[in-house]
Amino acid sequence: MVATEDFKITKTRKSKLGELDFNNIPFGKYFTDHMLEVNYDQGQWGTVEIKPYQPIMIDPACAALHYGQAIFEGIKAYKNEDGEAFIFRPEDNFKRFNISAERMEMPQVPEEIFMEGMKQLVKLDEEWIPAKPDHSLYIRPFMFSTDEVIGVKPSQKYKFMIILSPTGPYYSAPMRIFAEEKYVRAVPGGVGYTKNAGNYGASMYATAEAKRKGYDQVLWMDAFEHKYVQECGTMNVFFIMGNTAVTPSLADGTILAGVTRDSVIQLLKDMGLEVEERNLSIDEIEDAYKEGTLHEVFGTGTAATTSFIKELRYKDFVMTFETEKWKVGTEISRRMNAIKEGKAEDKYGWMVKV
Ligand code: COI
Repeated sequence: MVATEDFKITKTRKSKLGELDFNNIPFGKYFTDHMLEVNYDQGQWGTVEIKPYQPIMIDPACAALHYGQAIFEGIKAYKNEDGEAFIFRPEDNFKRFNISAERMEMPQVPEEIFMEGMKQLVKLDEEWIPAKPDHSLYIRPFMFSTDEVIGVKPSQKYKFMIILSPTGPYYSAPMRIFAEEKYVRAVPGGVGYTKNAGNYGASMYATAEAKRKGYDQVLWMDAFEHKYVQECGTMNVFFIMGNTAVTPSLADGTILAGVTRDSVIQLLKDMGLEVEERNLSIDEIEDAYKEGTLHEVFGTGTAATTSFIKELRYKDFVMTFETEKWKVGTEISRRMNAIKEGKAEDKYGWMVKV
């Protein structure tokens, strides 16, 4: 048991906040004054330190650098019109973090450290939360193995940290997406459902190839038939077909169980749409487009929020969409933002006060 009164808090002597231009904050580039750091060794968590943001010392033999036991989360904090700070569904990210930890044979992070540590850190740096539409404070909890040894085995030592980054939109314009047939992101029995750093490293080559062809991201497909869509770059993906929203099912463990995905499913149901979580083939998508029943395609994620897809290419077939005419995606964005900004009733209790 970790007692929160034992957290060791050292405040910075000189805030960097004055250097931040709130009118120009690209995603993930700036970090706040403080960070959280705690080490795990021999089955025990050490003292939780909240201290000035600073580099950390890593041994060249640090196991995570060699064998990839590294996981993370992405969460956002917002300010309402009264200037109060809230975090969006942090409990869900906490649970998913420990699901990732289990799959990667890493220790569970206790709730007091993750949740209380995050709240205290955000409270300390709450002036860094941009109070602007489409802006937020991105919270990045992460953990990696720190044994100093060459050899493939689970580490005895780990470091858990939280850093904070004030941020604007991740994808600022409607996207062009390339349906990827050759490279795969995840296989059943693998680690696709975790937020393990390697999933992102493994995606970069295919994403760079898509960018070289003029696309923003790839739409991943299943590893066996290269036919069933999974997720899109750093986002889950939704297809609006008639009055139904279809999103790939989480059942085979290849897809990240997005917290935004789950929220969007709820809001779609509130709007009266049918939601189907199921296998969806690229052929079905193409047919629906040809028949005129595929109306909208959008991605969802903590960083990406709701990102519209204006072009989807599969082989030589190009599907284009007039995103400015969309009703569903636009309404989902509006409802999500209204909840996050405290302008609409938070009927599911998603916003947790700091
Ligand atoms: C998130 O949506 O929070 C993510 O972790 C995606 C990331 C690659 C920015």
